[in-house]
Amino acid sequence: MINKFTCVDDIGDIRSAVEEALEIKRDRFAYTELGRNRTLLMIFFNSSLRTRLSTQKAAMNLGMNVIVLDVNQGAWKLETERGVVMDGDKPEHLLEAIPVMGCFCDMIGVRSFAGLTDKKADYEERVIKQFIKYSGKPVFSMEAATRHPLQSFADLITIEEFKTKSRPKVVMTWAPHPKALPQAVPNSFAEWMNRTDYEFVITHPEGYELDPKFVGRAKVEYDRDKAFEGADFVYAKNWSAYADPNYGKVLSIDPRWTVDSAAMALTDNAYFMHCLPVRRNMIVTDEVIESDRSIVIPEAANREISAQTVIKRLLESMK
Ligand code: CP
Repeated sequence: MINKFTCVDDIGDIRSAVEEALEIKRDRFAYTELGRNRTLLMIFFNSSLRTRLSTQKAAMNLGMNVIVLDVNQGAWKLETERGVVMDGDKPEHLLEAIPVMGCFCDMIGVRSFAGLTDKKADYEERVIKQFIKYSGKPVFSMEAATRHPLQSFADLITIEEFKTKSRPKVVMTWAPHPKALPQAVPNSFAEWMNRTDYEFVITHPEGYELDPKFVGRAKVEYDRDKAFEGADFVYAKNWSAYADPNYGKVLSIDPRWTVDSAAMALTDNAYFMHCLPVRRNMIVTDEVIESDRSIVIPEAANREISAQTVIKRLLESMK
């Protein structure tokens, strides 16, 4: 029974979660009565393609009605911090907006990225925690400041579908990007991989160390070529620096970290993964992402399945 989903702990045993997800994938319309006359409100503070489409589709598969609110397009701009004198461009506070939103739905999905200017605020997950506290409804993350659990769950399902060894070697590699990106995807991927018995390696340039809480048992290897040796899955992602004093900064756009065919040749014919959107020829070359070992599209498709599994569990808890 769950009434929120913000991290791997909320899904419980990952083996049974994957089994349930694969059962849903075999017949995604088996539970169309579960969500009848229930409304999901999806709230986006940030842009999205996959999360928006897959989560809405997942909810509709379960018979739910769906309302989508883009907070920064058409709604009042929201103040998120308490104690602020609201004399600027934000006419409404989250503390009123959240309970009002709760009046019009049975469940809330929230996307709210890290601001990358205040590490403490980001890592306290202030926005999604306010939704959990004040909405009075089950809340799930559609990517919060420090985690993207629906993505990681879809990644895990994808690896389970494609793996040919019981304990594959999974390598998460940093790759260059022109803008500062949050650590939510790599944090979350590491958190989920640490729940498996896979061999799990993280490789990145010095200065890009993630929060040790997420790194967990992973082996950190600064030599990317060495990390790629024998890999069965290469999971590429950019992230900005976590460590002080460089929190949220871009320290490098070194093109030697772009995932190219030469790097993939070091692996055991690894599958290439990325959560998307991806900047071609920054993160990964055209050749690699278009190769027959690239599984970015089935990975994205599994976002519907991870979302449906989570929403189904939340609905079952409401009965
Ligand atoms: N991977 C992912 O979350 O994609 P969107 O940002 O397009 O939702």
